[in-house]
Amino acid sequence: ADILLGRRLAGFIRDVPDYPRPGVQFKDITPLLADPDAFSSLVELLASMCVRRGATRIAGLEARGFLLAAPVAVRAGLGFVPVRKAGKLPGPVLARGYELEYGTATIEIQQGAFGPGDRVVVVDDVLATGGTAEAAVELIRGTGAQVAGVAVLLELGFLLGRDRLKRSLDGDRVDAA
Ligand code: PRP
Repeated sequence: ADILLGRRLAGFIRDVPDYPRPGVQFKDITPLLADPDAFSSLVELLASMCVRRGATRIAGLEARGFLLAAPVAVRAGLGFVPVRKAGKLPGPVLARGYELEYGTATIEIQQGAFGPGDRVVVVDDVLATGGTAEAAVELIRGTGAQVAGVAVLLELGFLLGRDRLKRSLDGDRVDAA
């Protein structure tokens, strides 16, 4: 990615120690969203990553992923599809569970949202353990669509999310701003 832009954008992300639990450092992206130049630069960068991967559709992961994926889809001239937490989408839906640090969660897409011939890029704010993105990739692949990539604002490299995604994605198809 554009290293200078990436550094500039990183300056708008606030590290919050011990939130939402002791020992966790939360990445607060709200200062970036509140700055129109930074936000539009980020949308531009993520949209170019999606186009470079040959995307035909953009999938956004609830909730913070929606904030980025929707404007990225508009900028790239592509349709937006929400990947939601369980129980939020009218059916029929396809669901997949995944492990969290404590407990499990389930995400869903609407049946028919993707199909063979689609090349989907998954957009989210943060790639941490990769559990959420992996579940989304598996759900999308289950429809017969191809996952062309995963594009995020921020990758917490020490959590090895990229390695985890290698099991579901062909090659290294993760882009981080
Ligand atoms: C956060 C973040 C990513 C995910 C990353 O979402 O927005 O989607 O966790 O973590 P992982 O790589 O370890 O799966 P969260 O589930 O907190 O939901 P929110 O966006 O609704 O706050």
